[in-house]
Amino acid sequence: MASNIIALESSCDETSASIIQDGKVLSNTILSQSIHEIYGGVVPELASRAHQQHIISVVNQALKEAGVSINELDAIAVTQGPGLLGALLVGISFAKGLSIAKNIPLISVNHMQAHILAHFIDEPRPNFPFLCLTISGGHTQLVLVKNHLDMKVLGETQDDAVGEAFDKIGKMLGFPYPSGYLIDEHAKAGDPEKFKFPLTSMPGYNYSFSGIKTAMLYFLRDQLKDDSSFIEKNLNDLCASIQHTLIAMLMEKLILCANENGIKDIAIAGGVAANSQIRNFVRGFSDQYNWKTYIPKLEYCTDNAAMIGIAGYYKYLQGVFSDLTVIPDARLKF
Ligand code: KG4
Ligand code: ZN
Repeated sequence: MASNIIALESSCDETSASIIQDGKVLSNTILSQSIHEIYGGVVPELASRAHQQHIISVVNQALKEAGVSINELDAIAVTQGPGLLGALLVGISFAKGLSIAKNIPLISVNHMQAHILAHFIDEPRPNFPFLCLTISGGHTQLVLVKNHLDMKVLGETQDDAVGEAFDKIGKMLGFPYPSGYLIDEHAKAGDPEKFKFPLTSMPGYNYSFSGIKTAMLYFLRDQLKDDSSFIEKNLNDLCASIQHTLIAMLMEKLILCANENGIKDIAIAGGVAANSQIRNFVRGFSDQYNWKTYIPKLEYCTDNAAMIGIAGYYKYLQGVFSDLTVIPDARLKF
């Protein structure tokens, strides 16, 4: 008999539900909360309220698209963390209610592991062990993936995530939140060598992105003193140059970590993995370093419940369930 898992994602500003049947994604409904655009970042309380308001319609839509009835569900997978506490609470509370009402097991999922396991939604699936550069609005990690459930963080940011750097710099340039995609688009028409920003290199496989944010702030402040329309005149070149610097920092440690650990199966994951230049660079490394590279489909880079469902599916296969005392963990580790 087929196994139907419903998955819920509510860790940040996407309310999403997905139906996974025997490891295949039947639906992946995503409602992105536009309410945060004008604030330059996610407002936690508004995120929680919006999840609460829309979760039922998102779940109904996912069931409808999959052609699966609520009575045919065998398990419910839900994001436990990391993420915003109030936002996570909405998904977990809903999941517990459904678990009790339908008498089906609850599976709690680590959001960062799920970003990585998004690679198992479609072919080609990476071979174990592989190295994954996981880059999102909240995290920047180099992860050694030993199998579906066993992963080790080899390096990570010591301050801001790279997505946060994209978004905060985007705000300085006058873009709405989230601005990673807009920087990516403007950079296509800009010169990446026009402006030079300092590269920060941390010990080991760690990262730091707070310095470049401050460097950009001071640079713009000085330029705007002489020319109040400096940003408008140089927008594409500014986007291309800052993106180039951020990517150079990401790639330096990715290459170092892969070489030192002798790993040739390399993946990228998370919202920032949607960046067209990062995708090009990593694809290009296949030839340069003889790597096998794995780049997720765009729809599975940014937050979505399908990745939670796939992560849940592997736990389901091994009978790894959570009891009803499980609580959200804003800083959940591997
Ligand atoms: O994984 P995600 O949806 O949410 C978190 O778990 O944080 O990642 C969101 C991040 C945001 O910082 C957004 O600006 C960034 O992904 N992002 C991009 C692009 N598309 C989304 N950054 C750079 N280039 C893009 N094309
Ligand atoms: Zn995410």
